[in-house]
Amino acid sequence: MKNILKLLTAVMLFSTLQVKADEGMWLPLLLKKYNYEKMKALGLKLTPEQLYDVNHSSLKDAIVWFGGGCTAEIVSNKGLVLTNHHCGYDAISGLSTAKDNILDNGFWAKSIQEERPAPGLSVQFVIRMDDITSEVLDSLKNVSEKDRAKRMNAVFKTITDRATKGTGYEAQCREMFKGNAYYLFIFEKFTDIRLVGTPPQNIGKFGGETDNWMWPRHTGDFSMFRIYATRDGKPASYSADNVPYVPKNFLPINLKGVKQGDFAMIMGFPGRTNRYEFSQGVQIATDLVDPAIVALRDVRLNAWKEQMNKDVDIRLKLSSDFAGVANYWKFFRGEAEQLKHNKVFEQKQKEEKIFAKWASNKDEYKNLLADVDKTFAAYKPYSLQRTFLNEGILSPNIIKYAGMAFTMEDVLKGGDEKKINAMKEQMLEALKDMPYPSAIMQADKRIFDSILVLYYANLPKDQQAKYMADVILKYNTNPREAIKLYTEEVFNSSIFSSEEMTKAWFENPRLGVLKNDIAYKHIVGFRTSYIENYKPKVDEFNENILALGRKYIKGLMEMEPNKTFYPDANSSLRLTYGTVKSYMKFPLITNLDEVIEKHNKFTGNPEFDIPQRLIDLHKAKDYGRYAMKDGKLPVAFLTNDDITGGNSGSPVMDGEGQLIGLAFDGNWEAMSGNIHFDPENKRTICVDIRYVLFIIDKYGQASNIVNEMKVVQ
Ligand code: ARG
Repeated sequence: MKNILKLLTAVMLFSTLQVKADEGMWLPLLLKKYNYEKMKALGLKLTPEQLYDVNHSSLKDAIVWFGGGCTAEIVSNKGLVLTNHHCGYDAISGLSTAKDNILDNGFWAKSIQEERPAPGLSVQFVIRMDDITSEVLDSLKNVSEKDRAKRMNAVFKTITDRATKGTGYEAQCREMFKGNAYYLFIFEKFTDIRLVGTPPQNIGKFGGETDNWMWPRHTGDFSMFRIYATRDGKPASYSADNVPYVPKNFLPINLKGVKQGDFAMIMGFPGRTNRYEFSQGVQIATDLVDPAIVALRDVRLNAWKEQMNKDVDIRLKLSSDFAGVANYWKFFRGEAEQLKHNKVFEQKQKEEKIFAKWASNKDEYKNLLADVDKTFAAYKPYSLQRTFLNEGILSPNIIKYAGMAFTMEDVLKGGDEKKINAMKEQMLEALKDMPYPSAIMQADKRIFDSILVLYYANLPKDQQAKYMADVILKYNTNPREAIKLYTEEVFNSSIFSSEEMTKAWFENPRLGVLKNDIAYKHIVGFRTSYIENYKPKVDEFNENILALGRKYIKGLMEMEPNKTFYPDANSSLRLTYGTVKSYMKFPLITNLDEVIEKHNKFTGNPEFDIPQRLIDLHKAKDYGRYAMKDGKLPVAFLTNDDITGGNSGSPVMDGEGQLIGLAFDGNWEAMSGNIHFDPENKRTICVDIRYVLFIIDKYGQASNIVNEMKVVQ
């Protein structure tokens, strides 16, 4: 009996390490080898070559990395691009003013001529990917951990130079499994991107921050762009002579709809996961880093919101920054909460115990977990330093402007006129996009002040920058008052508090003026403290923990030779597959009736406003071919695919590679998903393609856009 029990627990513990069919962000290049049979069993109808091929057009040719942080797909033979509304948000709000307010009102180009250039946007196609593991590992042989990153970057450069020579392509090498494998990705990058269509944000961001990261969801989270190229199909910067790009491939759209159990796969560019994290890392996230990020972001959100509520132009100027900060404010709140709720620390400990047992008689691994312990113990006391610098001290706008000047210091000292002028131009260009209105600077002053208060209250006194005691607290005997007076002085006297003076400095960048500026001194004060006292510790920790993580993964692979491992997300192209699937007691699909219900329930809350036209269309029930069998209009649905931030905008495809939706979010119950995948409750939230087409067609009356797509029923 006892033995059976033992065996049972062993099996149970063991199975926590098994990869379920739905977990994993897989490299398209390896699908044939590792995943294809499972995918076929779940309902895939395509061949491996139709998913990924270097010599013929394949699915990967219809997927692009959008703006370096999202995914998008090509949906017509004229380079039409579909992505999330929140991925186009920065471009859309950047094109909006109170007079021509496309963020609030929506926009539909009724012809190619009406499309709006979106400066700064780019999309990148993956031309191919190669396994470069042996070349990289060979060159890292006998290289110490300290020199590893430098050497690795040098090899990366050799490889990318060789791979792109004479092609006009760009290339990136990526570390996988914390340095057990390496892959090269070759891209073609297009930079003349134009806005084609977007719903009003009342549809595209319906539910706002309240519903963000949650299910059930009712957001029409999509927007449309077009890639322009030279007449011979080459990338070029914006020109009126450029023409719509003819892609190698594009996705047809399937309106048949989804039901529980249908095959669903997602290809895209997931940003970051840390699935092989150690238990101690989980603890630092839940107890220290995540709550600090939330508190620091709270400051910016509150100060901005106050000003955004007063004026439309200010709201439009700040809305993209606000959405970005709010998104990860809520993310880290959820991550901390769910790591605890889902007992991820305990889970990791369990896995480590199994590993320790296996490793106990292996010289290479037997000390590994003890070393991990030591490494975390040494780092933990300093683990808030980086967060307080990046999310705190460096976050006010005034410090960003002064920081730009700060980065010119070395070039100015060098005295090379050519370099100085080039940088000057670059900075003046960047400055055009930086918001300076006085309302924003007022918010900024409040942010600057509150951040210092948090810094003073939360970092151990002996870890605070000397500048705090030497300069800031000198103003008064009472620290709160001193911070206030110091803030006043910074905003009264720094040239970076004023747009004119900042511009004037960049036009005539003089080192002496910079060095006397109080915002500059502020940066130097806090930065020096970090660089001298904490950066060496942080670097050492990162170096050590990466090496230990590398060894841990290698060990896990030896321990379970029959398991297929997938690498953490790192913004490289991946595919995840699974099925359409609900969870807990939640519905699988939401519909337009519920949008109206939510709107009525939260009257007066602008996050749940909807355009009158949508209310009218709902009343008329004129959904045409976009309706479900029950006559309702679908809005969003769930799959159990494994995604993370960066996958936003990714195509959700059926077994034939046809588009059935766009991934746009994850669910609250699985906010711990970047560190631990929970097959029971982790879901991908997708906007149904039928809602997307309904909004373009019936709401936007842009049949020109719908007609361009290939719609199959
Ligand atoms: N949570 C979504 C994601 O990270 C973004 C949603 C953007 N919307 C917002 N309300 N900030 O992909």
